Amino acid sequence: MGYDPNGTNGNDRRFYEDPRTRVAAPEETRALADFVCGYLRYADLPVRSVLDMGCGMGAWKNEIARHFPAAGYTGVEYSAYLCERFGWKPGSVDEFRSRTKFDLVICQDVLQYLADRRAAKAISNLASLCAGAMYFAVLTKKDWTENCDQALTDGTGYQRGGDWYRKRLRKHFINAGGGVFFRRGAGAVICGARHKHFGHEPSGLRRELACHGDCSVERVRSVRRRERWQVNIDHCP
Ligand SMILES: C[S@@+](CC[C@H](N)C(=O)[O-])C[C@H]1O[C@@H](n2cnc3c(N)ncnc32)[C@H](O)[C@@H]1O
Repeated sequence: MGYDPNGTNGNDRRFYEDPRTRVAAPEETRALADFVCGYLRYADLPVRSVLDMGCGMGAWKNEIARHFPAAGYTGVEYSAYLCERFGWKPGSVDEFRSRTKFDLVICQDVLQYLADRRAAKAISNLASLCAGAMYFAVLTKKDWTENCDQALTDGTGYQRGGDWYRKRLRKHFINAGGGVFFRRGAGAVICGARHKHFGHEPSGLRRELACHGDCSVERVRSVRRRERWQVNIDHCP
């Protein structure tokens, strides 16, 4: 994205504010937040605290307030200019520390700006800050060559393959699809669909899609106090 820490290159205006050139419109963040927050609710992961790492102009802030009005939102930024303009906490994704962990960590389009060693360290750091789930997105080499509009997207930084990220994320997270990663041990559950013979036990297909069929299935009382079958995906590969 080419943000300079002093905000003098006008890239916040180009990539975020000017409707003709911005990379993402507010409606897109809204639709994304509907999906991510809905998924976390479905997985029974409570969201009381959110860390938005490299939050830019804070596109997620209002979306979090809309979905989880009681949750605290912490925006962290490397850019001194953005910290001053929006009041974010200064910090770097590979070094930021907190006394408490966050239920939801967001790290959207940040790690492509870090060289390999720092990006790897950043993934471990994000895991250490996360108690529940992470929404993670990054521009990969394939995105740049095949998927994105190069006229609108910032191609500076380090373009790595998706496998580079997946390999490192797997140590700490279960890839739940759509950029959502459940922290191992957080107790995320994929709930069962009504099965034609066994009431609410998860259907074979649902179970297989969720976890390759290796997970445990048990009848539980969910945090929202409804009794149902759930697939605990904590032990999945
Ligand atoms: C492409 S923008 C994405 C902003 C925001 N996450 C979003 O999706 O709207 C990348 C952001 O990452 C920030 N950034 C770059 N390096 C960083 C680092 N080491 N730690 C934290 N933030 C960083 C930049 O200042 C910039 O605001």
